[in-house]
Amino acid sequence: MELRDKVIVVTGAARGIGLGLCKRFAQESPQAIVMSDLECSSIVAAAESVGGEAVTCDVSLEEQVQRLVNDTLDKHGRIDLFCANAGIVLSGGVHASNDEWQRVMDVNFTSHLYSTRAVLPSMLERGEGCLMHTASAAGLLTSIGSASYAVSKHAAVAFAEWVSITYGNRGIQVACLCPQGVDTDMIKGGDPLSQFLQQQALSTEQVAEDVVTALREKRFLILPHGEVSRFLQNRASDHERWLKGMRKINRELLGGHDSIGDVEP
Ligand SMILES: NC(=O)c1ccc[n+]([C@@H]2O[C@H](COP(=O)([O-])OP(=O)(O)OC[C@H]3O[C@@H](n4cnc5c(N)ncnc54)[C@H](O)[C@@H]3O)[C@@H](O)[C@H]2O)c1
Repeated sequence: MELRDKVIVVTGAARGIGLGLCKRFAQESPQAIVMSDLECSSIVAAAESVGGEAVTCDVSLEEQVQRLVNDTLDKHGRIDLFCANAGIVLSGGVHASNDEWQRVMDVNFTSHLYSTRAVLPSMLERGEGCLMHTASAAGLLTSIGSASYAVSKHAAVAFAEWVSITYGNRGIQVACLCPQGVDTDMIKGGDPLSQFLQQQALSTEQVAEDVVTALREKRFLILPHGEVSRFLQNRASDHERWLKGMRKINRELLGGHDSIGDVEP
C-alpha cells in the first residue's frame, strides 16, 4: 500500500513506536492520520507534533474501539490503514494474577480482534484496506520473564495470519510487525531483560522506515531485526535445541535466580 492520500488510524500513538509510525507516515502525505491513545493530554500533544487528529481510546474496551472506527468513517468516509499498535508488558508467569493476565491479553490481543471486527466490513465493501498488527518477536519466539506477553503476542500473530489467509483474496492486506528491542519507554526498566533488549535496540525511526517499505511491498511479516528471521528458522528446524538455548539465555539473564520472571507467592 502506498500511503499518499490514505486515511490512517494508529492506536498507542502518544509515544514510542506508534508516534514514530505517525511521524514517518506524515512524510508520505496521507489524507489524515488519526492518532489514538489512552490519555487525552498526551495524545493531543503527540497529534499536534505530527499534524494528526487526536482521539482518546482505550483499546481494551470494544465500544471505544468501535467509536474510534465509526467516528473516523463518519468524518473521512473510509479507513485505508488501521494500525493496532497499543501494547503493554507485565513481568511474571504462572503466578501472575488472573487480573494481570486478563489485562495483557485484552490490550495485546483482544483489542486486535475488536479493531478488525470494527473496520473490516467497510474495507470488504470497498474491496481494499490494510490492517497492520504490532505484535513482537516475542510472538514468534518467546519473552523471557513475561509469560502473558509471549502468549498474547503469539495470539496476535496467529490472529493476523488467520485474517490474512481468510480475507487476503478479497483485497485485504495484512501486515504483522515483529521487532525485538525498540528504544521506547517499554524497555527503559533496569531489569535484566530490558537491559538485554536495549543492547540491540533499534530506533522508532528505523522501525517506521521498515514498516513503510513493507507496506509498499505488501509484505506480511515485518522483521526490523534481521536476526529474528534466523532465530525463527532455528526454532522451526530443531525445537528441542531451540528450547535448550532459550533455557540457557533465561539462566544467564536471570543470573541463576530461576524464580525471577515467575515470582512465587
Ligand atoms: N519497545 C519494544 O522493544 C517493543 C518490541 C516489540 C514489540 N513492541 C510492541 O510495540 C507496541 C508499541 O510499544 P512501544 O514500545 O511503543 O511502547 P510504549 O510504552 O512506548 O507505547 C505504548 C503506547 O500504548 C499505549 N497504550 C497502552 N495501553 C493502552 C490501551 N489500553 N489503549 C490505548 N493505548 C494504550 C500507551 O499509552 C503508550 O502510548 C506494543 O504493542 C509493544 O508490545 C515493542
